[in-house]
Amino acid sequence: MKKIIVLAVESSCDETSVAIIKNGKEVLSNIVSSQIDIHKRFGGVVPEVASRHHVENITFVLDEAIKEANIQIKELTCIAVTKGPGLIGSLLIGINAAKAFAYANHLPIIGVHHIAGHIYANHLVSDLEFPLLALVVSGGHTELLYMNDHFQFETIGQTRDDAVGEAYDKVARVCHLSYPGGPEIDKRAKNGKDVYQLPRVMLDQDNYDFSFSGLKSSVINLVHNTKQRNETIHIENLARSFQESVVDILVGKTLKAIKEYPIKQLLLAGGVAANSGLRQRLKEEMEAYPGIKLIIPPLKFCTDNAAMIGVAGTFAYLKGQRDDLSLNGKASIDI
Ligand code: KG4
Ligand code: ZN
Repeated sequence: MKKIIVLAVESSCDETSVAIIKNGKEVLSNIVSSQIDIHKRFGGVVPEVASRHHVENITFVLDEAIKEANIQIKELTCIAVTKGPGLIGSLLIGINAAKAFAYANHLPIIGVHHIAGHIYANHLVSDLEFPLLALVVSGGHTELLYMNDHFQFETIGQTRDDAVGEAYDKVARVCHLSYPGGPEIDKRAKNGKDVYQLPRVMLDQDNYDFSFSGLKSSVINLVHNTKQRNETIHIENLARSFQESVVDILVGKTLKAIKEYPIKQLLLAGGVAANSGLRQRLKEEMEAYPGIKLIIPPLKFCTDNAAMIGVAGTFAYLKGQRDDLSLNGKASIDI
């Protein structure tokens, strides 16, 4: 294979990130500038604030990524950038920086779907082999995707309301835990017991769809009712009960899909893939399926980063995808 070096940009939410990826496999650099501390005091991402920080950070992050990779710009093959979905103001900062860089250096530009990026992060662990199933769990997405080749995404199930990461963040908020709530709940769940009875919405239904708004409302009602009775809620136990319900649902639906779809690999993708309970349970359950390889990205490639966009961008390049300077960001876009 001819040497392919991709410079990738990701700015769809609150992380400004630039990475340089060699041959879709080797991470020469992956700089992630997180705005979490800035958004923490608002309890969530404020889109205007996020855009402003992307503008301030992007050139520094880009310079640092090139410096750390220790390459010459003329060695680059192309530029890959997240085109959506995400916060439109945030996406546009990354896209315009990528376009300016591509134009100035006469490089092709390739727009990458953010979720394709999350899925291709798994290729950094092990080569993708088809057909495969990907369980995508992030702040904006919860879906089961079937792929029988590169960039052939078939959605076999998805959430009908909230994404699982969104439910984590809202439950954390009602428990007065800081943003982003997923890691906070995960941490507390480790010391708690599954004592609060919470629903497993849609788990027994004969489809691959999910629903998390009912589970979220059950937690909110439980917290409010406990408060009204002047009792205190046990945060660790609540975190554990919520996490057990989420993991039962996600793993239950995934195992159901495995029985119907003959696959070689099962991939876990998206920010919630960092969840320790989900990682652990999937590993345990998949021991019963030795013919299917379970791939889970290391934590730093689960939450938003440009390395994953660079890997997906490499495969898009190999497939012949080329965009031009009319490339635009889209807040919502099908994979
Ligand atoms: O993929 P991501 O970084 O951004 C989106 O594309 O949405 O995912 C962010 C989501 C947030 O909702 C965050 O709370 C959740 O991932 N998250 C977690 C954990 N780490 C991040 N959720 C549960 N457990 C974790 N350890
Ligand atoms: Zn993401």
